[in-house]
Amino acid sequence: MGNWKSLYIYYISGTGNAQASSEWIADEADKRGLKTVVQQIDRLENIVMPSVDEKPLIGFAFPTHGFNPAPIMLKFIAGFPSGLCKEIFLLNTRAGMKLYKLFMPGLSGVALLLPAFILWLKGYKCIGFRPVDLPSNWIPLHPGLKKKVIESIFIRCEKIVRKFADKIFSGKRVYRGLYSLPVDLILSPVALGYYIGGRFFLSKTFIANYKCNNCGLCIKECPTSSIKYVENRPYWKLTCESCMRCLNHCPQRAIEAAHGMAVLFWIIYTIINTQFIILIINTLHIQPHAWWWRIATNIIGIALMVLIATLLYRIIHYTMALKPVQYLIRFTSLTALPFWRRYRFIRNNKTHKNSV
Ligand SMILES: Cc1cc2nc3c(=O)[nH]c(=O)nc-3n(C[C@H](O)[C@H](O)[C@H](O)COP(=O)(O)O)c2cc1C
Repeated sequence: MGNWKSLYIYYISGTGNAQASSEWIADEADKRGLKTVVQQIDRLENIVMPSVDEKPLIGFAFPTHGFNPAPIMLKFIAGFPSGLCKEIFLLNTRAGMKLYKLFMPGLSGVALLLPAFILWLKGYKCIGFRPVDLPSNWIPLHPGLKKKVIESIFIRCEKIVRKFADKIFSGKRVYRGLYSLPVDLILSPVALGYYIGGRFFLSKTFIANYKCNNCGLCIKECPTSSIKYVENRPYWKLTCESCMRCLNHCPQRAIEAAHGMAVLFWIIYTIINTQFIILIINTLHIQPHAWWWRIATNIIGIALMVLIATLLYRIIHYTMALKPVQYLIRFTSLTALPFWRRYRFIRNNKTHKNSV
């Protein structure tokens, strides 16, 4: 075992997967007599840092979002102080699935590489680097998995995470996350696209339907304080990270990913973006194949995408008071279908005794 006296795990978790993983590791640390602190980094508030005297091993656990680490974790790691310890480990939860008896893995992209690089620049040595394929929570893309499938994925992943912890605490290095390096590198441009554009579009697809009774739970639970009341209805800000906590937690099942609105957006966006680019080329007599213009069109495209998504979202939000708009959203949102299951593994009480 390394020369550690304590274990600090910082985690963010939309639907409980990264939380469960953190608690399994903490449980293994307990068995070895380490002082353990499991700390959720919601809103980056009230975060307890270890002192050097505690000789800590520090771990970071987070979901993968668009082949990136969850943005709040990236922000946390970027601002993480250096010199607290020598060694750290990283664990990303991914979209695990099961087809018949076959467990299907998710894809990490730069979810582990980027935090490892930032922490290395800060002087930390990464001794554990592991993806864990817990049940996918990407509910706008597919209905939540069936209970039986979720349970079997959990049983498998608990063993994997506990083994990972065991190896680390016995002083071994675990670089399992490097197995998919070629694929992860190929995905890095997509990860960049998600980070600088895609996630803002996704934040503008959440809508509270007619079932919303303004209980305020989504606002209270949001880990990035990205939901506020506008016109007495929950409104998702651009800072939303699509962690899926709100959508999966809502007791009324009132939160939808508005697929119809997303399609309408892409039609409007494609037309405006194309016309706008043609207008600039013709007005300024630009060579369309110049390298700098290719970069410029991408920047313009992303800026227009965020602008149009925000405007359309505002319009739909205000007109949701009208019955026809409510019906339109309801009948064009796949998440409103009765069989479209939600997913979450957040327990009512944090199970690890030292969870903060
Ligand atoms: C917006 C969004 C993007 C996601 N992107 C990825 C991804 O790129 N790769 C992957 O394997 N899983 C992806 N997932 C799935 C989650 O990372 C996965 O379900 C994770 O286990 C959730 O952990 P949590 O419950 O701690 O939030 C995505 C989920 C969401 C909601």
